Amino acid sequence: MKKIEAIIRSEKLGEIKTALATAGFIGLTTFEVKGRGRQKGIALSYRTSEYRVDLLPKTKLELVVDDKDVEKAVEIICDIGKTGNIGDGKIFILPVGEVIRVRTGERGKGAV
Ligand SMILES: Nc1ncnc2c1ncn2[C@@H]1O[C@H](COP(=O)(O)OP(=O)(O)OP(=O)(O)O)[C@@H](O)[C@H]1O
Ligand SMILES: [Mg+2]
Repeated sequence: MKKIEAIIRSEKLGEIKTALATAGFIGLTTFEVKGRGRQKGIALSYRTSEYRVDLLPKTKLELVVDDKDVEKAVEIICDIGKTGNIGDGKIFILPVGEVIRVRTGERGKGAV
């Protein structure tokens, strides 16, 4: 099992959630986060002064999936999340040691 942690544009969340659900990825967790990538935020100018907003609001989407489903989920997130402009986001994939479904006590893949 792997955990997919995707930092995405917040306005893309609805469409990504819908497409993931259509493909069978129902369970997920979202967070409102602030972050920065390579551009270190954005420079803004107001009258004569320039200042920098170095942490921009983004949405983090986490879902745990079976190893064989990782590429499918990543493809959905990339297809919908990509605008081609800077700030489209980033995806991290982490190994998951165990999953326990609290209500039933099931463990492993079947518990996802
Ligand atoms: N190395 C990183 N570690 C943790 N979070 C990151 C990292 N890079 C980006 N992020 C998160 O992803 C968000 C979006 O990053 P972003 O898409 O701007 O990455 P980038 O590498 O600058 O790519 P681009 O050049 O397309 O903007 C950031 O606001 C931050 O929350
Ligand atoms: Mg960036």
